[in-house]
Amino acid sequence: MPRQLFVTTALPYANGSFHIGHIMEYIQADIWVRFQRMQGHTVHFVCADDAHGAPIMLKAEAEGIKPETLVARIGAERARYLEGFHIAFDNWHSTHSAENTQLAQDIYRKLDAAGLIDRRTIEQYFDPVKSMFLADRYIKGECPNCGAKDQFGDNCEVCGAVYSPTDLKNPYSTLSGAPPVLKSSEHFFFRLSDARCVAFLKEWALGERLQGQVANKAREWLEGTGDKALGDWDISRDAPYFGIEIPGAPGKYFYVWLDAPIGYLASFKNYCRKKGIDFEAFLADPHSEQIHFIGKDIIYFHTLFWPAMLKFAGYKVPDRVYVHGFITVSGEKMSKSRGTGISPLRYLDIGMNPEWLRYYIAAKLNANVEDVDFNPDDFIARVNSDLVGKYVNIASRASKFLPEGRLVASEFGRNERTGDLLKAVQSHYEAREFGKAVRDIMAYADDANRKFDLAAPWQLVKEGKAERASEVATEAIEAFRAITACLKPILPDLAMRAERFLDCATLTFDSAALPLGPGHRIGAYEHLMTRVDAKHLDALFDMPEPSKAPPTQPAVAAAAPPAPAPASASASATIGIDDFMKVDLRVARIVDAGPVEGADKLVRLTLDIGEAKPRNVFAGIKAAYDPAQLVGRLTVMVANLAPRKMKFGLSEGMVLAASAPDGAASGIYLLAPDSGAVPGMRVK
Ligand code: MSP
Ligand code: ZN
Repeated sequence: MPRQLFVTTALPYANGSFHIGHIMEYIQADIWVRFQRMQGHTVHFVCADDAHGAPIMLKAEAEGIKPETLVARIGAERARYLEGFHIAFDNWHSTHSAENTQLAQDIYRKLDAAGLIDRRTIEQYFDPVKSMFLADRYIKGECPNCGAKDQFGDNCEVCGAVYSPTDLKNPYSTLSGAPPVLKSSEHFFFRLSDARCVAFLKEWALGERLQGQVANKAREWLEGTGDKALGDWDISRDAPYFGIEIPGAPGKYFYVWLDAPIGYLASFKNYCRKKGIDFEAFLADPHSEQIHFIGKDIIYFHTLFWPAMLKFAGYKVPDRVYVHGFITVSGEKMSKSRGTGISPLRYLDIGMNPEWLRYYIAAKLNANVEDVDFNPDDFIARVNSDLVGKYVNIASRASKFLPEGRLVASEFGRNERTGDLLKAVQSHYEAREFGKAVRDIMAYADDANRKFDLAAPWQLVKEGKAERASEVATEAIEAFRAITACLKPILPDLAMRAERFLDCATLTFDSAALPLGPGHRIGAYEHLMTRVDAKHLDALFDMPEPSKAPPTQPAVAAAAPPAPAPASASASATIGIDDFMKVDLRVARIVDAGPVEGADKLVRLTLDIGEAKPRNVFAGIKAAYDPAQLVGRLTVMVANLAPRKMKFGLSEGMVLAASAPDGAASGIYLLAPDSGAVPGMRVK
């Protein structure tokens, strides 16, 4: 009976572009999904933007835009990555949607009715300037143990002490710099510690549902006592917050992690409506399966809160949670905020083949929660020796010995080797042991090449045994076709082109077991895949050529007063740190902006850099920015530039913006600091 699968990947935060970690997760899930579809199962594969929460709200505020605008901007770039890497989601939605609001409020009401929501008044730090409660990461102060300055609210990076934000000495808000005050407020808690929840989760976490390592972790949390006992979960946040309002509690919002996983259902529901699938019936069907692919950092949310929420709201609970490790680049953890390492977009932009990455990641993945390292040399070796040298090569070599592409009678299908391969590879895919699948496939490809070499068809032709050479080539083409079927979930585009070359029906594991047979004609061989070059990797990591000093990058152009665009994009001569430090760069808030009469390129900016009197600056950014949109946002200014008298008045500094060597033609991009920076902070 065909399986009915509802599959998701974690919903990425909507305040940033995809990084290579996201792409790795999607590739893993996409391979598994494509495999299931090849087996004839029905799969609904969905994802969405995780739109809510304080960081997104604050980032939008810093840019002077609405959070919806920020989320839409990030959302608009998603398709390029997904199409680029052949990731075939059926639907991409958002947690900031009607479906999610309705589902979150419904689940909440049912949990409340089940007696699992508690209301408690708690005391929390509040920023009197920003008029908002502060999450721990927005509070800093002096360590109560060693006195180190600028330590976060939970632990000291200098002496390692662990404490709570209220223990900090001279605390300040990282948002406004103001000392926070304690304020009480009513919060809503999901009673995870309730005996019903604990009993359910203990049972849910058993069996096949979770990987061994993950089940152990979950059990550890469930069996904790004393300090380690399972606590209740604070699911509310006070306004201002970008989220979903709690029904019957004006000014209270669901904490982002409450509505985020509900976004899985919201995206599926949105998809069902578009496709005419009965959402409720699908989930109510005891044969349907709900499967979540996630990374190791969010196990807690997916093995405790999420199943318990679903269970006690009367929804279907997850059948499987498949956890993967993190991708590192040359052994280094990538920074979450900067997403360093490999830029997925750069990978595509410089013309690297997405299937190289899909293959490399597949080759390194297994079913455990293990990190995967991207190593450039290993990447080159694997792609070139396996994909090009072993796989694609078979087709290009063999096709030369098949006049008019005509296959002849051969032994293929009478050996058990192919049947064994197809069987083993299927079970590896099912178990997410992609690395094992790749190993088996490449061992089979090695055999096929060896057989071909031993038979030496070029020699046979010389000896006048062309018919025998065609037999050898037919064997090789049939083997190539079996390998293509096996690699199809990993290399969907290459497989499609190979099917065209073979002129065969779309491949499945069943059809690949049967030979094309004598008389079948294949097409002319065309290049199926090129080799990866070390130069690609240099470009990917933007490594400077040894002779040239600093890396080249788009120059940062001064935007005011109308500055000439730099002549070229290459970096200038080296300077010392002392030279650089002469430039006093400050975070500035644009408190006012307006047009300048008689100057169609200029905008007049009033900039707050924490001084008594704001600065007046004329900036040549009119082509790219509507002055009204600039008010409120943060940028960076040169504070010690000699004032310059202009026709329109005095310009007391300049703001920083990026542009290409062609000047304003390809856009001007005003710089903005990450959220948390305040006017007057020095940039260095
Ligand atoms: N928004 C939450 C998830 C909500 S799910 C209801 C979140 N977003 S995230 O953008 O930070 O991460 C999305 C996914 O990417 C997570 O599964 C996370 O584990 C994964 N990865 C983040 N960095 C990663 C690597 N370096 N490597 C592999 N996966 C990584 O968490
Ligand atoms: Zn300390």
